[in-house]
Amino acid sequence: MSTSSALEGKVAVVTGASSGMGRAISVLLARQGAKIVCCDLFEKPNPKGFEKDLHLTTPQLVEQLGSSAIFQKVDISVIPEIEAAFEKALETYGRIDINVNCAGYWAPFRDLVDEDDELWAKMLSVNAMGTSKCTRLAIKQFLKQDIDEAWGSRGRIVNISSCAGHFSFPGENAYASTKALINHMGRAGATDHAKDSININTIAPGVVATGMARGNIEDKDIVGMMKKATPWPRLGRVDDIAEAALFFCMPGSQWITGQLLSVDGGMTLGVPYPTGS
Ligand SMILES: NC(=O)c1ccc[n+]([C@@H]2O[C@H](COP(=O)([O-])OP(=O)(O)OC[C@H]3O[C@@H](n4cnc5c(N)ncnc54)[C@H](O)[C@@H]3O)[C@@H](O)[C@H]2O)c1
Repeated sequence: MSTSSALEGKVAVVTGASSGMGRAISVLLARQGAKIVCCDLFEKPNPKGFEKDLHLTTPQLVEQLGSSAIFQKVDISVIPEIEAAFEKALETYGRIDINVNCAGYWAPFRDLVDEDDELWAKMLSVNAMGTSKCTRLAIKQFLKQDIDEAWGSRGRIVNISSCAGHFSFPGENAYASTKALINHMGRAGATDHAKDSININTIAPGVVATGMARGNIEDKDIVGMMKKATPWPRLGRVDDIAEAALFFCMPGSQWITGQLLSVDGGMTLGVPYPTGS
């Protein structure tokens, strides 16, 4: 596996790093030389994941690439645990340059009327408050650090929302609403912090094969509906998302901020041409 050094010396705090998109993003950042603080509820990858190397943890994958990583157990719905993770990152590596927030909560489809207060509270605490807290702690740290003139920034934040956050998809109202919040927090936060040379961008994935999505992908009716709703002839892979996240962390994207990038095989472009029942 080839490595490069565009992110040599950079430190990335990645949430949801043990599985799926967060894991793939950690690996691509590490391949460019970044050190990774892998934050997750569990050190081991989600056993429902589609990764071929489920026997390895993300820090082990990063170390195989010749970079450095630590695991930090964090529930992003618990503020003191997030604070401890950022402290641990600073204690270990002395700085933070990149924050990618992938940790998220999703619940099986149901109509809005059937969503209860517990579901809304959980969605808000994980997806909204957790992502917002990580974003704010990252900005606070970036403001203490100098601008890297070659890289062009004080720090980069990439938040993972969902295509459900900007188009109407049935059965996941609370999830979609909290993902919409992430989209807008990124836009508005980027406006506040462009003056500080801090980039905040958001990726809105379509349907991607991960442990979180396995139930849908293995349900013939649901996956059929998702394929029909996706114009591109395949569903998503974690590397589709990881490549986009990497782009937002590279020197070449230093003048891009506040953007919402749909990586969804065209799912949100409109109604695809019907291809049969
Ligand atoms: N898979 C999809 O089709 C899809 C589509 C759109 C958006 N997303 C979003 O992508 C992000 C990544 O999900 P994925 O599909 O890679 O799933 P995944 O299950 O493969 O990975 C999610 C990781 O986040 C961790 N996590 C969950 N809750 C956490 C918490 N409270 N604190 C810390 N870590 C936590 C899990 O342990 C897991 O390792 C999520 O925010 C999800 O909402 C996924």
